[in-house]
Amino acid sequence: MVKAVAVLSSNEGVSGTIYFTQEGNGPTNVTGNVSGLKPGLHGFHVHALGDTTNGPHFNPAGKEHGAPEDEIRHAGDLGNVTVGGNGTANFTIVDKQIPLCGPNSIIGRAVVVHADPDDLGKGEHELSKSTGNAGGRVACGIIGLQG
Ligand code: CU
Ligand code: ZN
Repeated sequence: MVKAVAVLSSNEGVSGTIYFTQEGNGPTNVTGNVSGLKPGLHGFHVHALGDTTNGPHFNPAGKEHGAPEDEIRHAGDLGNVTVGGNGTANFTIVDKQIPLCGPNSIIGRAVVVHADPDDLGKGEHELSKSTGNAGGRVACGIIGLQG
């Protein structure tokens, strides 16, 4: 089993920790908790670079932005996390496109929580097919291997 973790940092009072595990070539399990967010949906992605100041969604297959369940999506498109009235979200995501080993490993890349909902590529906005128009980055963390 390969394990990884990303500790979120933020200029806007958001905190959280995201854990990743992968067994063999199976899907990756993502378990996270985030607090200090405004209630509602927030875009949640793996971005290509560990540079949290910049960089597009992780997209080794060169596709357009989409929903996690779509055929056409970036590998890093994990959809939205849902934040409750207390400003926290606890979530589990299982995904096959974000391995922790091999050529498309997400180790060293960034996980990003956005200010706004990800429209999953289905909005009218010009950014819909590239970012889901999810707004600014409110918290980021670098995905690092865990012992
Ligand atoms: Cu993003
Ligand atoms: Zn995307």
